Amino acid sequence: MARFVRRHEPEIMEVNEDHLMRANSFEGRQEAPQKHGGRLWRVVGVSFGLLCILQAALNVSLRLTLYSSDSVTPDIETGCKALTEERDLMERKLNNIDKHTQQGWLYFSHSLYYVSSTKNTWKGSREDCRQRGADLVIINSREEQDFTRQFKKLIWFGLTDSETEGIWKWVDGSTLTTSYWHHGEPNSDQGRNEDCGEIMFFNLTNSWNDESCDSQNFWICEKTAAP
Ligand code: BGC
Ligand code: CA
Repeated sequence: MARFVRRHEPEIMEVNEDHLMRANSFEGRQEAPQKHGGRLWRVVGVSFGLLCILQAALNVSLRLTLYSSDSVTPDIETGCKALTEERDLMERKLNNIDKHTQQGWLYFSHSLYYVSSTKNTWKGSREDCRQRGADLVIINSREEQDFTRQFKKLIWFGLTDSETEGIWKWVDGSTLTTSYWHHGEPNSDQGRNEDCGEIMFFNLTNSWNDESCDSQNFWICEKTAAP
């Protein structure tokens, strides 16, 4: 038994050493490229990590710069916000103009106008305008004055002196500054109480007349185009 062991021990040893040598030399051959590859991956990994850190640092610094109170960014933000609001307002205004013009209103210089196809007293006309979310037209410019003359009708507009005789006021409570009275008007004709403004002489630039508020006329309502 002991002989068998002794006789076989060197063989076992030989085999093991041989295998170890082969294995070592094999590993040695294989280890070189693996070591280079591993190093490369490590470099790539570390570089990637560094880039991530750099990116994060940049993000943080950008955020701090852009959102800090003493930077110029709030101005940009305020500007953007203002532009967005302006755009939204324009969009709402356009939709509003569209809706009204489809219902027969006319658009002119930031206002919407409704020209009646029936007649009424000055008060009745004003009531109709109010029910339409408007009021009788207030004439603020020569252009608007000419706009009101184009319909070639006797038309009520938003001017009255019913509160105090001779003090003409617009329906929004403001006093009259620029007027387009026809020559000789207002005259409270033949002692009649003519307290309401009408477009009577529409073929003339100065077309206004004071008329009895109970007369029957067409009328023009006005509302701002901005909702
Ligand atoms: C007169 C106006 C008057 C109107 C009454 C016109 O002939 O010129 O002043 O208000 O008649 O309808
Ligand atoms: Ca008159």
